[in-house]
Amino acid sequence: MNQGTCLQDLPVDLKPERLPNHVAVIMDGNGRWAKDRGLPRIMGHRRGVEALKDLLRCCRDWGIEALTAYAFSSENWGRPLEEVNFLMTLFERVLRQELQEMMAEDVQIRFVGNLSSLPLSLQAEIKNSMETTRQNQGIKFTVATNYGGRQEIIQACQAIAIQVEKGLLKPEEINEEIFEQYLYTTGISHPDLLIRTSGEMRISNFLLWQIAYSEIYVTETFWPDFNRPEFHRALSAYQQRERRFGKI
Ligand code: FPP
Repeated sequence: MNQGTCLQDLPVDLKPERLPNHVAVIMDGNGRWAKDRGLPRIMGHRRGVEALKDLLRCCRDWGIEALTAYAFSSENWGRPLEEVNFLMTLFERVLRQELQEMMAEDVQIRFVGNLSSLPLSLQAEIKNSMETTRQNQGIKFTVATNYGGRQEIIQACQAIAIQVEKGLLKPEEINEEIFEQYLYTTGISHPDLLIRTSGEMRISNFLLWQIAYSEIYVTETFWPDFNRPEFHRALSAYQQRERRFGKI
């Protein structure tokens, strides 16, 4: 927990000392949320951004140190071009619009994934937001964009193999700590709690290495409806779990 954090409105039944340090979210169900209302899928994504913004604020208010959101997977390129283009433009616009607010709220934003295949204008916005917020000391907000857990592990293996080839690393020196240094998420703690919305019981190639011991919480609620009472429920469930990390 952040020292000196003002736990604004933390529900009284939640124990501040047992909050997760890092929460990760698979924001699923935007399309179904829109379909249920007879709206185009893109409206679900728009509302999804609002839900994410509120969750980020809520994490900050309640003293959670890090939030990671799965915005776009390496497999999402297989969606209709119109939807992919909409999402790329949405990310870019949201980043531009929210940068000032993130500075005011001391958010440190970071993107993880294969960023070099994103549209150049989005890459520029990503770079600018990461550089501008780098020194911020508040919540660490990570956005997984064009992210795939398997791809992340393979690129780490390739980078390590190059080090071995150059004679800078011996195969027997490779351990978990060294391996972590080659992941996109190096320097970010592992998620304590992984939340998935819309009822699907899968990981979908998200943070495969990092969630080895995360507690998983799945709710039927579609992402655009994921709000503070929903988050409260997820945290209550988390606080009732006994984390053993393989021990007894
Ligand atoms: C999954 O719902 C959602 C996505 C693929 C996009 C999530 C992106 C956002 C909420 C925007 C985040 C913005 C920033 C700047 C980080 P789905 O489309 O798979 O829904 P479905 O399963 O009901 O079809």
